[in-house]
Amino acid sequence: MISSTFLAYAMLAWLGVAVVALIALWFVDAPYGRRSRAGWGPGIPNQLAWFLMESVVLISFYATFLTTSNHIGVSTWIFASLLTFHYVNRALIYPWRTRTKGKTMPLSVMLMSMTFNTVNGFFIGADLTTLSRADSWLTDPRFLIGIVIFFSAMALNWHSDNILINLRKPGETGYSIPRGGAFTWVTSPNLLGEILEWIGFALLTWSLSGLTFAIWTCANLIPRARSNQRWYFEHFPDYPRERRVLIPGIW
Ligand SMILES: NC(=O)c1ccc[n+]([C@@H]2O[C@H](COP(=O)([O-])OP(=O)(O)OC[C@H]3O[C@@H](n4cnc5c(N)ncnc54)[C@H](OP(=O)(O)O)[C@@H]3O)[C@@H](O)[C@H]2O)c1
Repeated sequence: MISSTFLAYAMLAWLGVAVVALIALWFVDAPYGRRSRAGWGPGIPNQLAWFLMESVVLISFYATFLTTSNHIGVSTWIFASLLTFHYVNRALIYPWRTRTKGKTMPLSVMLMSMTFNTVNGFFIGADLTTLSRADSWLTDPRFLIGIVIFFSAMALNWHSDNILINLRKPGETGYSIPRGGAFTWVTSPNLLGEILEWIGFALLTWSLSGLTFAIWTCANLIPRARSNQRWYFEHFPDYPRERRVLIPGIW
């Protein structure tokens, strides 16, 4: 069994990698979706790539979570259920709902995402089982506020992803300007929802693994949101200029 001290140091090192990733992604757009381009290796069918790279979280999380000798209490099972709820959508449902048939994702991007997701699933699984939260944690303000943030942010993420998916008719692969919902205020409300969701998870678990994953999500998605904004400005002269990147009215 891994000692909790070793686990904490490993997660802190992983946080350091997130800072490096943030800096790299600030200057180099991850080459998938609208930023897809040649030079990053062979292409994997987009929907299959999303399915594979996201489903590894469930595997690495449960491989760690279910093999622990620690007692798993009700609070910890609730943490696991929330993560599972998110990833059943992201890994098993979302990929097949996207209208990206015929598009590919570079193998290198898929493998990097798989590595990132496997490590995060492992850390969250290992860390949550060492927390040993009492049942009284479920009435702690951190849990209660965190769970409200988690579900509100998930609703924002799902609603915004749905607007994007429905911009295309089946078989179409082009781009248009999203409107309605939180797109009224920001360019990437789906990414904002994802970031807030994992901040909510960090709060409700009050764990280093939750914090680490929230910071990793910021490292991935803040540069992506900035890049999305630039992309719309470059491709759509009529794109609403007042729309912010990620934070309504601010940035
Ligand atoms: N936790 C994390 O670190 C992490 C990392 C990455 C993604 N995610 C989550 O995964 C989900 C997808 O991420 P993403 O970066 O692929 O989001 P995205 O770029 O906003 O794209 C979402 C889907 O909508 C399509 N789409 C986007 N803009 C469109 C437009 N203007 N017109 C028509 N179709 C459009 C995309 O097609 P194309 O693929 O053809 O562009 C894709 O199928 C999000 O919910 C995100 O939060 C999480």
